[in-house]
Amino acid sequence: MAAQTLIERLQGLKAQVASLPSPADERELEALRVKYLGKKGTVSLLSQEMASAPKDEKPVAGKLLQEVRGGLETMLEQARVRLTREKIQKEIEQEFFDISLPGSEPEFGARHPIAAVMDEIVDIFTGMGFQVEEGPEVESDYYNFEGLNFPAEHPARDMQDTFHLTNIERLLRTHTSPVQVRAMQKYGPPLSVIAPGKVYRCDADITHSPMFHQIEGFTIDKKITMGDLKGTLQTFIQRLYGPKTAIRLRPSFFPFVEPGAEVDVSCVICGGKGCRVCKHTGWLEILGAGMIHPNVMRASKIDPAQWSGFAFGMGIERIAMLKYGVDDIRLFFENDLRFLRQF
Ligand code: DAH
Repeated sequence: MAAQTLIERLQGLKAQVASLPSPADERELEALRVKYLGKKGTVSLLSQEMASAPKDEKPVAGKLLQEVRGGLETMLEQARVRLTREKIQKEIEQEFFDISLPGSEPEFGARHPIAAVMDEIVDIFTGMGFQVEEGPEVESDYYNFEGLNFPAEHPARDMQDTFHLTNIERLLRTHTSPVQVRAMQKYGPPLSVIAPGKVYRCDADITHSPMFHQIEGFTIDKKITMGDLKGTLQTFIQRLYGPKTAIRLRPSFFPFVEPGAEVDVSCVICGGKGCRVCKHTGWLEILGAGMIHPNVMRASKIDPAQWSGFAFGMGIERIAMLKYGVDDIRLFFENDLRFLRQF
């Protein structure tokens, strides 16, 4: 029997491949691939023979080779898709999934007590017509001290209290009062501003944290008096702590106000009868305030002969501690969920 030509063998292979049963599993699939398309597989060996085939046979043989290879690749790919689908289907049928089991409940976060108190205070003042302003925490000496009429030797300028930034002529603001100066320069009078934010001091114990929050407020208009200050603060305090809460002003000194005052509220714990928190005085100090100093106005190009104003500032942590009966300021910043979950 004469040896078969390459074309005849390719035709035989094509017929053989066409009648192959589809593989029943992945092992059979792989065996088929190796047998025909592997390095030493039938198709690969025949394609090597192409080189030595007679020239006139080459086009027909090449076409046949392509058909056989293409047909095989398609068949194997379809088998692979079918086997994967069957495998997934089997897994779905065999796995048990109890849709009646209760799910895990998502945990909801809550507002941090400091943020909540701050919002409450800002809300009370915006309700009285104040606009909210913010200033930078990295501040210049000018806005933090100079523009607020701080004499050069004032103790608050001491390195002990202020975080000075090295390399740049900046500091971390020690209070929110610089926003007064910024807002006056930006808008000019008349003006009512409330300025909440973070402030920084080199200080840490159970009632001091190196970072804490303050709210600053001020009003400038024609003929503003100490009476306007007291009325505004009384309205604020009674909205915050209830209508029975009383306030009193004691003379005090802050460089940026004249006269200056410290503001006490009747003790929110004992109602004024005297307790451990108010040290049996019946009063709690919660605010600094006063009439804006003419030098502060002049520094912001506002004529103190035409305009007058009051300003006040308070620490949020102190107000929150009194409101919630917390006796260690650090609890607010330790992020212990057992503490935070109580609010
Ligand atoms: N800036 C002061 C501080 O940080 C608080 C303060 C006192 C603000 C009196 C004022 C004020 O506006 O009039 O301690």
